[in-house]
Amino acid sequence: MLLTEIDHVAIAVHDLEAAIAYYRSAFGAEVHHREIVERDGVEEALLKVADSYIQLTRPTRPDSPIAKYLEKRGEGLHHIGYRVDDCAAALASVLAAGGKAIDEAPRPGSRGTTVAFVHPKGSFGTLIELVQE
Ligand code: CO
Repeated sequence: MLLTEIDHVAIAVHDLEAAIAYYRSAFGAEVHHREIVERDGVEEALLKVADSYIQLTRPTRPDSPIAKYLEKRGEGLHHIGYRVDDCAAALASVLAAGGKAIDEAPRPGSRGTTVAFVHPKGSFGTLIELVQE
């Protein structure tokens, strides 16, 4: 089994502060890590749940993929991040199984991780992120 943990569940939102405030008042959740990822045009707030995270994500510019997603589909579940020991090996296994890569090779993600995205087409409609810590 190549997946070692659910790393994060990513939720696309318009208003990050409002989403953080909601998770705080509804669940007592606190922000564990916050980061702007310029390359992806997103700002993330990570709320820790056991060894996993809820990742609230907002676009930082109108041409970011998250902005396009919000425009097309509205707020909600965006992708699942699966933790793996070896991102390159997991990506190769996905491709061998008929999956479709968005990232042809692993690249830097947030929190100093190495990541690769797998297209929902070929993965039964779910955008998958492989996350190596
Ligand atoms: Co992610």
